[in-house]
Amino acid sequence: MGKEVAAAIARWCALVDHPVTPRLTAICDINPAALEWFDTVTTKVTDYHDLLSDESIDVLYIAVRHDLHEQIYLDAVAAGKDFLGEKPFGIDLDAATRIVDAVEASNVFVRCSSEMPFFPGAQAAFERIRSGSLGRIIEATNYFSHSSDLDLAKPVNWKRQQRFCGASGVLNDLGLHALHVPLRLGWEPASVYAVLQDLVPQRPGPDGALAACDTFENATLLCAVEQEGGRFPLTLGMKRIDPAQKNTWALRVTGMEGGVEFSTRRPKTLKVMRLDGQEQVWQEVEMGSQSDFPTITGGIFETGFSDAMLQMWAAYLAERAGQLGDRFGCVTPREALASHRVVAAVMRSHAEQSVVEPSALSGRQRTGAGH
Ligand SMILES: NC(=O)c1ccc[n+]([C@@H]2O[C@H](COP(=O)([O-])OP(=O)(O)OC[C@H]3O[C@@H](n4cnc5c(N)ncnc54)[C@H](O)[C@@H]3O)[C@@H](O)[C@H]2O)c1
Repeated sequence: MGKEVAAAIARWCALVDHPVTPRLTAICDINPAALEWFDTVTTKVTDYHDLLSDESIDVLYIAVRHDLHEQIYLDAVAAGKDFLGEKPFGIDLDAATRIVDAVEASNVFVRCSSEMPFFPGAQAAFERIRSGSLGRIIEATNYFSHSSDLDLAKPVNWKRQQRFCGASGVLNDLGLHALHVPLRLGWEPASVYAVLQDLVPQRPGPDGALAACDTFENATLLCAVEQEGGRFPLTLGMKRIDPAQKNTWALRVTGMEGGVEFSTRRPKTLKVMRLDGQEQVWQEVEMGSQSDFPTITGGIFETGFSDAMLQMWAAYLAERAGQLGDRFGCVTPREALASHRVVAAVMRSHAEQSVVEPSALSGRQRTGAGH
């Protein structure tokens, strides 16, 4: 992921009139071989403390294994460094709570990574929902799906081992991707019922022998969300084995007065439902390249993952500079904490085969709606 961010910064000139121009000056990895690729970087270190004590560095991007989040994020806060941290923002609810407490007791500007909602189609869908134009919500679905784990020969790695990834497995990996927009809309679930699947218990280890792959591959969550007049169902999916899906992020919301649907499978297409007398008509709007931050790319051209990364970083650095305005911002520490509350509720729901209220799992206040 560090390479993705380096590539986004190298393409910064595609942004039109952004208030900030970042320069990538330093990189850290405990594995010296991983440093080689970063050929334009002047500072290369293997101990992250050397970055924390470097006064020439303003902002860090921290992308490490989940079991390392807490220590490195807390050290960054203590050093007074602003950072964009990776999801899930701590290995579990307790770790996330300690990180967010430290962030909120400090002056550092911290956000969490989640780039998929920066696709133009996702932004357009979000705006239609947020505006209230759908009327009373009937139901909503958001999922994030991969399929490469269908290959049983794929070697085990840290994301497939609880001690590194976290007990919730795929929820720690893909959960925040599916929760970012619902939480931003103020849809923190009032209750959760989850079905978790451990589909592949073993995978080839480094020596080729089978090793434990003790994380859940797939999670399906049926959540209830409060709205005026009664609850509505929010179905969330986080799946490593959803055949034929390659990093597919999809959102579908229907209301009494309209609906929207967007999937990165068809990144050019926003589907919009409107009422036409007694009929309901789904129409397609062709999305171009433009998201929240304008770029030099022609409006008719296609968008992709790298563009979403650029937009996410544009949002982080604009917000840090106090210039986000009413644009869509990155995941806040409180939203990351809220996502951990949902994940903790999922784990209890799975263990007890019951419906669980996330708010009962922590004394922290719920996130608010809006940007
Ligand atoms: N936003 C996204 O779309 C997205 C995609 C993939 C991963 N991620 C997240 O990014 C984070 C990292 O995932 P990844 O896939 O890049 O992992 P990775 O294993 O590919 O890379 C992690 C790097 O951290 C290095 N490292 C380990 N310990 C270190 C330490 N103490 N100091 C410095 N470097 C250290 C490793 O050598 C490795 O090069 C995770 O939180 C993951 O959930 C986000």
